[in-house]
Amino acid sequence: MLKNLTIRGFKQGDEKRIVRIHRDSIDKFESMNVDDDFILRLSQRHDFQFFIADINGLVVGFLGAVFYSNVGRSEVGPIAVEKYYRNSGVGSKLLDNCENFLKTAGIRRITARVRYDNNECISFFRKHGFEQEAVLRRYTRDLGDVVQFVRFI
Ligand SMILES: CC(C)(COP(=O)(O)OP(=O)(O)OC[C@H]1O[C@@H](n2cnc3c(N)ncnc32)[C@H](O)[C@@H]1OP(=O)(O)O)[C@@H](O)C(=O)NCCC(=O)NCCS
Repeated sequence: MLKNLTIRGFKQGDEKRIVRIHRDSIDKFESMNVDDDFILRLSQRHDFQFFIADINGLVVGFLGAVFYSNVGRSEVGPIAVEKYYRNSGVGSKLLDNCENFLKTAGIRRITARVRYDNNECISFFRKHGFEQEAVLRRYTRDLGDVVQFVRFI
């Protein structure tokens, strides 16, 4: 399935698929009003990078990372893969590409925040060498707890 998978940067037009994939997993994210304009504005920030998983021209997943080269820190997420393509390595490829980019950008500390009950994603970050460093209590707008993970690269 991953034979034709490419990880690339953001192109105008990707926002529609990103919004769609995000909406399909809305229970995993903070209830923010994520629409096309929001994604386009994010994609134009100099301290933010999108990584897009593309199979034969179809966007099947995305990962965003905010990064501050002057202090060497980054926070990765949101990350989401379309349901049909999950558990076949797409998310891992997105994260690998992102980490390579962040290394080049002088980042040494990466954090990721995941809802306490999001077992798939917690397992995903652990598998990629992230360690739990904190539980942020009543962190989300609906007062959900969040686990903060860290990885040093
Ligand atoms: C988290 C997510 C991006 C992972 O992407 P993916 O392409 O499925 O992940 P990969 O195939 O590269 O990696 C597989 C690993 O992820 C974890 N994982 C993925 N799906 C899982 C599931 N259904 N149950 C448990 N672990 C799961 C496991 O660690 C798995 O490794 P293993 O097969 O050795 O157990 C994807 O599950 C997703 O889009 N989830 C919904 C959105 C979301 O929760 N985003 C994060 C919000 S912070």
